[in-house]
Amino acid sequence: MLPFSEPPLSPAAYAFLEELVYQRSRIRLGVDKQALVAGRLGRRLQSLGCGSYEEYCGLLQSAEGEDEISALIDLISTNHTHFFREAAHFDILAERVLPVLAERAAAAGREMQFWCAAAASGEEAYSLAIVLAEFCRSRPGLSWRVYASDISRRMLAACRLGIYESDKVDLPTPDLLARHFQKGVGEREGYYRVKPELRRHVTTDYVNLFQDSYPVPRELDAIFCRNVMIYFDVESRRLLVERLFEQLAPGGYLFVGHSESLLGLGHRFKAVHPSVYVRPS
Ligand SMILES: C[S@@+](CC[C@H](N)C(=O)[O-])C[C@H]1O[C@@H](n2cnc3c(N)ncnc32)[C@H](O)[C@@H]1O
Repeated sequence: MLPFSEPPLSPAAYAFLEELVYQRSRIRLGVDKQALVAGRLGRRLQSLGCGSYEEYCGLLQSAEGEDEISALIDLISTNHTHFFREAAHFDILAERVLPVLAERAAAAGREMQFWCAAAASGEEAYSLAIVLAEFCRSRPGLSWRVYASDISRRMLAACRLGIYESDKVDLPTPDLLARHFQKGVGEREGYYRVKPELRRHVTTDYVNLFQDSYPVPRELDAIFCRNVMIYFDVESRRLLVERLFEQLAPGGYLFVGHSESLLGLGHRFKAVHPSVYVRPS
């Protein structure tokens, strides 16, 4: 293969891409991310046969541009995640939050419903599902569902598949691995797959957090929206937090990333634990 030389990313092309990404996802790249953008898009331009960013920007604006805008956001978004990330949240969920939510759902004779609103490749949604399955093991009769969504279709495909490299499946205790994962053999050696019994509880769908309405139920019991608000500006965070409030049942919980305080957003939530909020009943 010939060595690949990246086309230069001019300030004008960068400004166009930055604005387009913001308009479509509210991800604010900022003035200092040219190198990151060029690093992430260089190969894409090559595979499309675009010799310059100006040509690529033209494609994005053309009649066929919509699919490419999706691909652009896919490449630009940061999808880092892992199982039981910010583990304290899962302890709070199991020990303090679920007993309350389960009692409420049982009294109303309905299933518990959770939304993992920026699920990336699924590790967070399956961590949540594991905690729920474990909680319900000793409480037959309780039913539950996790809605997992993301703006990245590439990530959603990985989430739906539920296959992870063995050394990335780092769970709090080894018995969880045996209960909820199948070990890959043959071609799948070195991977684990989430068991179908658990995957059945997880519904995966595309959601842009800034689209007009969400294809998930209202009156949710809890929303995990973690480590995504850091990419948004204050106005977008404020809007998002208000919409998540509306999506929760009274008494429902919002979990945000440890570094994503809602301070200064003028929200209606009550803080109950570090980076955990409740919609007052
Ligand atoms: C760093 S990951 C966080 C994954 C997981 N929540 C966690 O805490 O480990 C951020 C995810 O947010 C998604 N994202 C970014 N902007 C979004 C938007 N406007 N709507 C929905 N998802 C978005 C990205 O595609 C990415 O998968």
